[in-house]
Amino acid sequence: MKSKKDGVVRTKDLEGKKVLVTAGPTREPIDAVRFLSNPSTGRMGFALASAAERRGAEVILISGPTVLVPPEGINFIRVGTALEMYQAVLRELQGVDIFIAAAAVADYHPKKFFPGKIKKQGRKNLLLQLQPNPDILKEVGRKKGEKILIGFSAETEGLVKNACLKLREKNLDFIVANDLTQEGSGFALETNRVKIIDREGRIENLPLMSKAKVAEHILDRVGEVMKSRKALGA
Ligand code: C5P
Repeated sequence: MKSKKDGVVRTKDLEGKKVLVTAGPTREPIDAVRFLSNPSTGRMGFALASAAERRGAEVILISGPTVLVPPEGINFIRVGTALEMYQAVLRELQGVDIFIAAAAVADYHPKKFFPGKIKKQGRKNLLLQLQPNPDILKEVGRKKGEKILIGFSAETEGLVKNACLKLREKNLDFIVANDLTQEGSGFALETNRVKIIDREGRIENLPLMSKAKVAEHILDRVGEVMKSRKALGA
């Protein structure tokens, strides 16, 4: 079935599929008024959630703090920390066919949370001890089953090598890699220039385009994975 919206023909190729998307940054509290985070706006994940909904999927979007308005027609879950995102993903995972991890999850959180506000008086240095957060995508990769798994890899060096390592380590079907040093790519922008790398090591270089268009490309690739699995009788 095909629909025409904004002059663009889109197929309802995800009808009957359940898609779970993570988006945005996470916030790791240091004290009552401070946190560790990153500049992710959530745009890539929100674009993916909208595109999947338009293609007929049932969509759950789990997002860290952003100013974006959740797309209509999806189940939206807001979280703060990486641990909350991890718990929400595991809770919602039942029946999910496609998991897309677009969130910029903080790798660490402060070991100790200081109640109230840390005062600077009398302190020359302040040492923050950090401990690792759970790797959400890696954990879903362990429970992969029939799910199609897609991750992102934002790098400042060794783009393809690091992306391929993550693809294997997290048991993904493909990974979307972007070079943060390139103009127009990465955090807090409307555009992105990405490479899509699959399990066979094939690399598709996409030109600079809007995150909405990147989302459509990613979902086209999901469609291809579904087709090839069907052809293999998987
Ligand atoms: O941070 P890293 O480069 O390992 O992120 C690669 C992929 O893993 C991304 O898709 C990200 O959303 C996901 N990830 C995650 N949980 C983490 C760290 C990363 O789901 N704690």
